[in-house]
Amino acid sequence: MEPTDTDRVFQSYGRCCKNELFFIDFYDRFMGSSPEIRAVFVDTDMKQQRHLLRNGIMQLILHARGMPDTKLRALGQSHSRSGYNIRPDMYGLWLDALLATVHRHDPEYSDELAAAWRCVLQPGIELIRGAY
Ligand code: HEM
Repeated sequence: MEPTDTDRVFQSYGRCCKNELFFIDFYDRFMGSSPEIRAVFVDTDMKQQRHLLRNGIMQLILHARGMPDTKLRALGQSHSRSGYNIRPDMYGLWLDALLATVHRHDPEYSDELAAAWRCVLQPGIELIRGAY
């Protein structure tokens, strides 16, 4: 059977996670994408944050595979205006930074794989973003 988009993204993420530089590169890129984004993380312990994101991205992928929403709903609350106050327009930069980092770290990267990533993560991102 042909692998589905979620299978391909799951495998790609596995290749990326093998190298811990993946998360360092992601945050360097994401924080470099706007002074506003950098400002959001001034008081953040980035070592801990990279670790938390590893799990967060896995939650987005598992959501596409039909896992219950509970963890993503909690992220929606923590990122909302009553939490970290992450404006909905910031998620585009987040996803662009992620795809650029996948490009750099996954030797099997292709445009089709990038499209699969966007498609697979979108519903989970919308769930978090929509809780604003
Ligand atoms: C914290 C995931 C998008 C800013 C976290 C945590 C996770 C996470 C797992 C730690 C758990 C928590 O505190 O609730 C994600 C995912 C995203 C996303 C999966 C994409 C859909 C963003 C965006 C920003 C952002 C766009 C904007 C700059 C933050 C901040 C924290 C955080 C400020 C808390 C840092 C601290 O504790 O100092 N995120 N996040 N996140 N995230 Fe996100």
